[in-house]
Amino acid sequence: MKLNRRNFIQKASASAVGAGVFSILPSEIWNSPVAPSDKIRIGLIGCKSQGFWDLKCHLNYDDAVCVALCDVDSSVLNERAAEIKKTYNQNPLLYKDFRKMLEQKDLDAVIIGTPDHWHCLQLVYACQAGKDVYVEKPMANTIAECNVMVKAANYYNRIVQVGQQQRSGFVFQESMKMIKDGTIGKLRKVNVWGNFNYGTGSDPVADGPVPAGVDYDMWLGPAPSRPFNMNRFHGSWRHFWDYGGGLMSDWGVHLLDMGLWAKDLVQAPSQVLTYAANSSTEKKVRDTFDTMTVVYPKKDYVINWDMTAGVQQGPYEKLYGLAFIGENATIVTDRNSYRVFPEWDGEKKTGKTEAKSYNEGKESHPQHARNFLDCIKSRNTPACPPETGRVAALHAHIPNISARIGEPILLWDDANSRFTNSEKANALIKPEYRAPWTFPNI
Ligand SMILES: NC(=O)c1ccc[n+]([C@@H]2O[C@H](COP(=O)([O-])OP(=O)(O)OC[C@H]3O[C@@H](n4cnc5c(N)ncnc54)[C@H](O)[C@@H]3O)[C@@H](O)[C@H]2O)c1
Repeated sequence: MKLNRRNFIQKASASAVGAGVFSILPSEIWNSPVAPSDKIRIGLIGCKSQGFWDLKCHLNYDDAVCVALCDVDSSVLNERAAEIKKTYNQNPLLYKDFRKMLEQKDLDAVIIGTPDHWHCLQLVYACQAGKDVYVEKPMANTIAECNVMVKAANYYNRIVQVGQQQRSGFVFQESMKMIKDGTIGKLRKVNVWGNFNYGTGSDPVADGPVPAGVDYDMWLGPAPSRPFNMNRFHGSWRHFWDYGGGLMSDWGVHLLDMGLWAKDLVQAPSQVLTYAANSSTEKKVRDTFDTMTVVYPKKDYVINWDMTAGVQQGPYEKLYGLAFIGENATIVTDRNSYRVFPEWDGEKKTGKTEAKSYNEGKESHPQHARNFLDCIKSRNTPACPPETGRVAALHAHIPNISARIGEPILLWDDANSRFTNSEKANALIKPEYRAPWTFPNI
């Protein structure tokens, strides 16, 4: 048999994964393209909400097919399998344990749509098993996990797309063009804001029994053991440090990523000034903060993040958005629109640039999925590689750490992966995994 990427990986990963030990495969075979005529065979881990939308965005292209679904909640798994059958007439194999799914021979790529505390282990295992990965944002729930995920993607030579889909969206691509071609003059500041009701958390409920069909131990995975509570489960887990980072990481990662892209910065923040509080009077439960203001000084501009959870208003009548403030104009964007507000030239009695606006932006997940499929075939770098995902995630994790320890200024040494001014902060870089899960070592 002629050895190509597909049959080599199938042979090698079947034996390696089955034994519970992952061997290193030659990168030239791992990294050879999938033939353009091949369909990309996709599996999804975490099927309830965002992961399933991501999957559909892939399956709406003719060259993608779903061969596996995995979820720890049987009712989610069965409902999603029925939907795939009805909409696409496809019959994926079903799993409750992602490690079993990764043994499946005819699986090229996985989408990871689980809560943030699972992203790292699932990505590392998937890379080790020779799969390409689309991992939802934030790339992981801690700094150390983000670091090891970048290493894993590179070490195993996998295509990894992080789910910061705005990088593939028309509105932000156009905004970036205008910033980089000089339309707005020197970019001096990027104001970023995200105000959403849901960021205050959920109404309190008592601990209760684990719902039928749910493998709760596998939902918790590496996170600390605790009694089941509906508020910490589907969807609302994002308000608890064990699994997520609140609105700061949920929306902050997406929007701050745009502030970084404006200057093509792929650098962790070296210093961060954070104000955080719980100032809403609503009786909701959460660990995370409802109010945060963060300043990220950069070499020749500054990024500001402003978040007031529980409020559905914001600057320029947008509850979330960005203002790219240049010398000649400000561009204000959200996911569907941009508007250029020129500065006035008093001498020439005209705007310093043309005023223009666009309001017909569409969802960018389909384009981000297309980019991932294309990169699986070409082995080119995708629109949001893990290095970019890591840097965006650190822009959320560092202020969250600052808020948790009550130290407003943190100085970060990225080369040595440590804070230079706080041992308390250093203690929150790496999570302690609950046995039998162990932190990956690449
Ligand atoms: N890119 C975006 O615009 C966007 C939007 C929303 C959410 N997200 C991200 O998507 C991810 C999922 O968020 P969500 O809102 O869909 O969460 P969710 O709670 O609605 O769904 C998560 C699913 O993962 C399953 N799951 C948990 N542990 C699992 C395991 N070990 N193996 C298999 N399945 C497991 C759960 O049972 C659930 O079905 C998060 O990282 C979130 O930040 C991204």
